[in-house]
Amino acid sequence: MPQQNPSHPSPAATLSLAEKAALTSGAGDFVTEESVAAAVPAVLLSDGPHGLRLPKESGDGGQLDLHSAAPATCFPPAVALGSSWNPELAEQVAAAIAAEAAAHGVGVVLGPGINIKRSPLCGRNFEYFSEDPLVSSELGGAMVRGLQNAGVGAALKHYAANNQETDRMRVSADIDERPLREIYLRAFERVVRRDRPWSVMASYNGVNGVPVSENARLLTGILRGEWGFDGVVMSDWGAVRDRVAALRAGLDLQMPGTGGRTDREVIAAVESGALDEAVLDLGVERLARFARRTTDPVGSPGEIDVAGHHDIAGRAAEQCVVLLKNEPALLPLDPAGGSVAVIGELARTPRFQGAGSSQVTPTRLDVPLDSLRALATGAEVRFAAGYALPGAATEPSAAAPDGSGSSLLDDAVRLAAESETVVLFLGLPAQDESEGFDRDHIDLPAVQTELLERVLAVNSRVVVVLSNGGVVRTAPWQERVPALVEGWLLGQAGGGALARVLFGSVNPSGKLAETIPLRLEDSPSHPSFPGEEGRSRYGEGIFVGYRGFDARRGEVAFPFGHGLSYTTFGYDGMRVDEDEGVFRVALTVTNTGSRAGREVVQIYGSGPADSRVRRPVRELRGFVSLFLEPGESREAVVEVTRHDLAYFSEREDGWKVEGGRYGFEAGASSRDIRARVEVTVAGDPSGIRLTGRNTLAEWLEHPVGGPLLAERFARARADASQKGQGALADPVMRRFLAGVPLDVICEFPQSPVPPESLGELADAVEARTAEVEREGRGA
Ligand code: BGC
Repeated sequence: MPQQNPSHPSPAATLSLAEKAALTSGAGDFVTEESVAAAVPAVLLSDGPHGLRLPKESGDGGQLDLHSAAPATCFPPAVALGSSWNPELAEQVAAAIAAEAAAHGVGVVLGPGINIKRSPLCGRNFEYFSEDPLVSSELGGAMVRGLQNAGVGAALKHYAANNQETDRMRVSADIDERPLREIYLRAFERVVRRDRPWSVMASYNGVNGVPVSENARLLTGILRGEWGFDGVVMSDWGAVRDRVAALRAGLDLQMPGTGGRTDREVIAAVESGALDEAVLDLGVERLARFARRTTDPVGSPGEIDVAGHHDIAGRAAEQCVVLLKNEPALLPLDPAGGSVAVIGELARTPRFQGAGSSQVTPTRLDVPLDSLRALATGAEVRFAAGYALPGAATEPSAAAPDGSGSSLLDDAVRLAAESETVVLFLGLPAQDESEGFDRDHIDLPAVQTELLERVLAVNSRVVVVLSNGGVVRTAPWQERVPALVEGWLLGQAGGGALARVLFGSVNPSGKLAETIPLRLEDSPSHPSFPGEEGRSRYGEGIFVGYRGFDARRGEVAFPFGHGLSYTTFGYDGMRVDEDEGVFRVALTVTNTGSRAGREVVQIYGSGPADSRVRRPVRELRGFVSLFLEPGESREAVVEVTRHDLAYFSEREDGWKVEGGRYGFEAGASSRDIRARVEVTVAGDPSGIRLTGRNTLAEWLEHPVGGPLLAERFARARADASQKGQGALADPVMRRFLAGVPLDVICEFPQSPVPPESLGELADAVEARTAEVEREGRGA
């Protein structure tokens, strides 16, 4: 039960049934109901997550009006921030968003979104951080802190398993318990436990056949019961089909309002006895606390520092750019001399965010071409569009006057031939990716790849700069392009950041938070994405993203964690110390090159080789950013808890650490491992009660059951009248019997353990196990 402030009346006790029903659904599209009598203020909500989508007039905005929001700073979307691997940066960005929210009276920002990028096709991948739950939770959690420390609530979304846009409002994500816990709920769990968001948004989809908004297991059992969530669960917009069932499951706030329609359903359900009023009261109390905490000002909101926030957006974007390739080192370009052909409409008409509910009207916009020109002190920068962006206002005619082909293309190729270096901006047109639908391929538009081929034919000094929210295929041409920059969608100040990276005043330091596959078909979820007939079966299990590529030893275009710098880093002296269940992984990192730079040191871990369950080849366990001057060395330290080593056991319905040898690895990417240390870890006691249904192998493995059973076998061997004595001594027989349940073995006439003694044996194991545990606790 939420705690009561004694100065506030209890709304559940003060309000009528009708008022309580009204309070737990929206008053409008982006505002909640207020109750003066119960001292519950209205809360203004705004998308989210990388800037505000504000109604033009003060008050409530229209949900479907994506184009007329009032200006707000458009910070780098999650796809970019994820590549920074820098939680401090994400926290600063969120603090700036919170300052804008406070200035506009917004109490809750609808974000961050921390869903896992299960497939590169998901139309909303630009709004999510990573294919890995740890990266998602570190960046997402930082955003929650940045917002809430400034008094603005976060709405952690979209809980849970909203990993596709296809049929998103109906599809059931069918996920086994282990991947659900280890991959899809993991980031939510970490953020809820550690960063305590004030609200969580329940997603549209179902999980294992139950709509999330009616899913008591997810909304109450796991979220509140296991993780201790004490905030409000709001629905995604329009996600509630059955308000009464939703309330019962633990959903407190239906958004947006339905003009009283579902309030009447709630009233009728309480009156008929179908809904216990206490359930509604609980939602009302939670809502009241949420409304008060999100409207309680932290300091007085100041004027928005538009220029300052643009600057924060630009500094953030600098750390999000990923240098995928630079060989031979073509970058950075010299701003003082030479001729540079900037080619590609995207250099002049940048894409800086994705489409849908997260769309911000920027306060200003840095255009990469202008920024490059502004930074060039002596270099000559000339431009050719090369291609038109479909639907863009600037779309010129692509046909040459003589009808022989594309003049845009020919002009660009001519310019490329005349210039020393080409910077070629390629990427996805806006209509290729958006909330609401998935992509059906990951290729660049054919007109762009044709341009690339033609440019490469006349000039080999080509730098490709990509603008895209979901990954694009680079394999067909990446070998022939010396320099490749992944510029994602970088927010309104991304153009300047890109120019600074290209001309070298900024040293790139982003790392991929998702794998770039050679082909779409290689991606682990491909055979079962996006499902069919209303069900999306997550057939790849825990082997999502790099976990899947590694399991199959698959080649990739660029691996998870990859990203280059204009300097180089050395890794030395890795060691792991354990202290009370915390593994302190430390190593020395040295900037061995000639420029200052930031390195994201990644610590991966691998489970015991003889694990009971399939474990990924490696999993990210932690990471840390170090800024180093040339020649400087510093210690990178990452702490990994014992819990991080656990897998989720379906059989035992809980997290389990197995005993054995665990590997810790330090890498500059998931496929550039520089050092490895192994440690021995003691396992958790098994919660399994041995029965006759356990196999011989399971009995023999059991720390208590094993010796007891072996003793019975030994006794049988000593007893000449028993004939089963040799069974375990024969290696083939032993292997044959290993998978046979003990109750089957007991039925064999020669069995050393008769069926009637099985129960007694199991009891003896249990008694001895309890004794061992008591001794372990020092009782
Ligand atoms: C989206 C949410 C968003 C909400 C409000 C929904 O369609 O899925 O992410 O916050 O609309 O705009």
